[in-house]
Amino acid sequence: MTPLLSRLSSASVLLAAAVAFATVPPAPKLPPVTWAKDIAPIINQSCAECHHPGGPGPFPLLTYADARRRARQIAQVTGSRFMPPWLPEPGSGPFVHARRLPRSP
Ligand code: HEC
Repeated sequence: MTPLLSRLSSASVLLAAAVAFATVPPAPKLPPVTWAKDIAPIINQSCAECHHPGGPGPFPLLTYADARRRARQIAQVTGSRFMPPWLPEPGSGPFVHARRLPRSP
């Protein structure tokens, strides 16, 4: 490649990179996660059935304070799929009223 051609082609690579960078849309701004809007519906649907006073769960999960107190443990047990308890092997079913939480993307 002649020096001029090589200079031109590196200029076009730079230009392409600049155009690509300029046309990448900014990451969408997600609204903040809130207890009432995002978390309570999941807890009410998947956890409160057992985690209420007198229920089979060892502690209640009804309020923000209940969940905040155990946030780290909740992340662990839902991440490991220990909770909500659901014994069928992954891939078996489908079952009506399956208790599995959907995987996050
Ligand atoms: C079908 C009833 C049931 C449902 C639904 C349920 N749990 Fe539980 N949960 C239990 C029982 C029973 C235990 C005690 C299990 C044990 O100690 O082995 C428990 C224990 C836990 C623990 C303590 C685990 C530990 O290692 O000590 C956490 C945290 C928890 N559940 C969170 C949740 C969350 C979050 C949900 C919803 C996503 C949920 N549970 C749904 C019955 C339930």
